[in-house]
This record gives sequence, structure tokens and C-alpha cells, in this order.
Amino acid sequence: MVKVEYVADLNEAGQRAFDLVKESVLNGARVLGLATGSSPIRLYELLAQSDLDLSQVISVNLDEYIGLESSHPQSYHYFMNEHLFSKKTLKASFLPDGMANEEKAVSEYERILKENPIDVQILGIGRNGHIGFNEPGTSFNSRTHKVALTQSTIDANTRFFENSDQVPKFAYTMGLENILEAKKIILIACGENKAKAIHGLVKGDITELVPASILQKHNDVIVLIDEAAGSLL
Ligand code: F6R
Repeated sequence: MVKVEYVADLNEAGQRAFDLVKESVLNGARVLGLATGSSPIRLYELLAQSDLDLSQVISVNLDEYIGLESSHPQSYHYFMNEHLFSKKTLKASFLPDGMANEEKAVSEYERILKENPIDVQILGIGRNGHIGFNEPGTSFNSRTHKVALTQSTIDANTRFFENSDQVPKFAYTMGLENILEAKKIILIACGENKAKAIHGLVKGDITELVPASILQKHNDVIVLIDEAAGSLL
């Protein structure tokens, strides 16, 4: 079931997500699935500032670029270090290994996910309804896999790199089946540019053309949105 909750902005979404994560951790959640991007930044800030004990909590991230060292400022390892891991002690934190070959990176991440089933998954959503790097057309049965980034993602990233050869063309991502295995899912989306994707997620047909629409099949999804993101509901 997808439950929609309205918030004023990303700040309030972060606060609400924090309260939900805190409640889950106090009730025994031991594995958090995390996302990068702008939507969960406030949540990570609040987790970092709080006295909530995460020393027995493991995190597993959705995705990582292929070919970037974890020290590269555009890598998702770097993002997570900046926003959370350097400020808060967790028991362990995993992201896909963007420097490993496909077979190794995929099998290792599937092993990690099997050993650490996700209690609470944090998600953002792309304008086209992507979750993780699962773009429209990705199979609902997908598990951890290598994806070719869309040209628009490559173009958008180009400004962060000295030359276009360095811009990642591929990434590793959890698949849609992995995401659906999380016990609880909290998705954060604010802004008018998310409205179409939110409509597809909450009310649209369940179709691989809108990857997030598969969340309608999950029994515990909370979608935190502002008025603008909910304007087509
Ligand atoms: C990030 C990820 C992406 C983002 C999505 C929304 O790890 O997998 O699916 O969640 O692109 O990004 P923001 O929050 O920047 O709008």
C-alpha cells in the first residue's frame, strides 16, 4: 500500500523521514537502505546531529557509478561520506564497488543484500519515475545489475568533470526486485518536476515504463511529498 503524506518542503520531509527512521531503529531495524541525491540530504543531516545510536546499524546504498574511485568527489561513496558516514558511526556501510568488474561487483552486492535484508529503504524518484538507476523499461524482476546511463544523465554530469572521457557512462544499481524486498520504504519527492512521476507511482498503471509504479505492490510505502509534487494526484 502506498500512503501519501504531505509536507511543506524538503526540510519537513527530512524531519518526518528522520522520525520514521528513528522509530524503526528503536523498534529493532538494523539495516537501512540509503539513496544519494538532493531529496534525503536533510534526513542525513538530522541523523548526523541526533543522539540516535546507529552503531549497530548497517547501511546499504542503492547505486554507484562505474569507474570512479570512492575518493572522487562525484562518486556516491564520497557523497555518503560527506553527508553521513564521516559524521555518524554506523556498524558498517556498503555501496556497490564501482571499481570492480561486473561479475564481482554484482555477486558481492547480492551477497551483502542477502546477509543484510533491508528494514527501511530510503528513496528519491527521478522525473521519469526511475528509482535507483532503474530507468524506464527496466524489468520488475531485476536484481543488482550494470546499467548504461542515459545520455541526459551523462550530459548533466559533464559539468562536474574536466573532460567528457572522465564522465561515467555506466553504473551499478540494486534492481527493482531488491528494492521491493525492503520491509518498509520511505520515498521523498518535492517540486513540480516530480509531479508526473508521483502520479505514475501513486495512481498510474503498474508498468515497467514507470519503474516506481511497482511500489504499488509493496505493503508499506510512505511517500513524503509537497503540494507541487502532488499536484497531479
Ligand atoms: C540516488 C538515486 C536516484 C535519485 C533520484 C532523485 O541514489 O538512486 O534514483 O534518488 O534521481 O534524485 P534527487 O533526490 O536529487 O531529485
